[in-house]
Amino acid sequence: MTETTEPTGRPPPRRGALVPEPYRVVGRQVEVADVVTLALEPHRGQLPAFAPGQFNMLTAFGVGEVAISISSAPGGAGAVEHSIRDVGAVTHALCEARIGSVVGVRGPFGTHWGIGGIGEDTDVVVVAGGIGLAPLRGTVRDLVARRRDGGGRVYVLVGMRSPDQILFAADLEDWRRRGADVAVTVDVGAQGWQGPVGVVTSLLLDAPFEPARSVALACGPEIMMRFTTRALVDRGIDPRRIQVSLERNMQCGIGLCGHCQLGPLLVCRDGPVVSYGGVADQLLMERNR
Ligand SMILES: Cc1cc2nc3c(=O)[nH]c(=O)nc-3n(C[C@H](O)[C@H](O)[C@H](O)COP(=O)(O)OP(=O)(O)OC[C@H]3O[C@@H](n4cnc5c(N)ncnc54)[C@H](O)[C@@H]3O)c2cc1C
Ligand code: FES
Repeated sequence: MTETTEPTGRPPPRRGALVPEPYRVVGRQVEVADVVTLALEPHRGQLPAFAPGQFNMLTAFGVGEVAISISSAPGGAGAVEHSIRDVGAVTHALCEARIGSVVGVRGPFGTHWGIGGIGEDTDVVVVAGGIGLAPLRGTVRDLVARRRDGGGRVYVLVGMRSPDQILFAADLEDWRRRGADVAVTVDVGAQGWQGPVGVVTSLLLDAPFEPARSVALACGPEIMMRFTTRALVDRGIDPRRIQVSLERNMQCGIGLCGHCQLGPLLVCRDGPVVSYGGVADQLLMERNR
């Protein structure tokens, strides 16, 4: 049977690419004061399987649509999770969504963390700032579950604003229990906080990974990524073995509107996860000159 095509000759957009599918909120977890994780289950048809690092466009009906990374691990039959920071009208409406209510979901879109080919003796250095831990959460779960004694280690280096802003504390503890090296620093300490205070790059100075056999994954605010990638390279990691997740304002999510253009990249299509060596290094540096 021949594949159906539109008059342009392009295959028709797959289900869930253009029209939001209704998903029901089946779980709602307040992570910290301004971040909520919504667990969503399809009301009707299921969208295609996702890979960690990809994002969905979530619609708060009557308010608008925003790009939100998938923060759960793929493969399970359960609900798909999104962790949302309340920064404006749409994210506020999503954070307010109650169990049983319906939101729209388009996706999954974009590239994912390339961890498929990572060898067993490779150290994986994961660096996250704030809500940037959300798109990495599924991948870290996967990495930690796959690691064997005597193989490469997983380093999870996290920077948060303050102790009461630490996201996914239960996950961090679980990964530590399962053998990952987890370190958390905060910008501003508080009474009772005994961990480090300072920027996340300070954790990179002491982490005992072996640069020549390491890969790194980084996600966070742009300024944090700029300093983190530079610090990773200074520690001796090959830029081509560093992946970063870029963030731009999105509208279509499928490479049609140009809203997310960054140099030669359409971040919704060519990203959000890109290799640092090549294009992203130039872009991160140029934008901040
Ligand atoms: C690929 C991708 C994945 C993302 N994943 C997550 C996630 O997992 N969790 C999460 O909380 N947020 C995520 N975001 C950011 C999220 O899309 C924005 O916070 C959201 O669009 C803000 O919309 P709003 O209407 O609530 O706020 P607005 O009123 O539109 O904006 C509020 C503030 O946020 C800024 N802002 C708006 N959109 C963006 C953006 N795309 N990037 C940076 N700043 C922005 C505005 O300039 C303004 O300062 C992601 C963005 C992208 C592109
Ligand atoms: S969001 Fe439209 S081209 Fe990327």
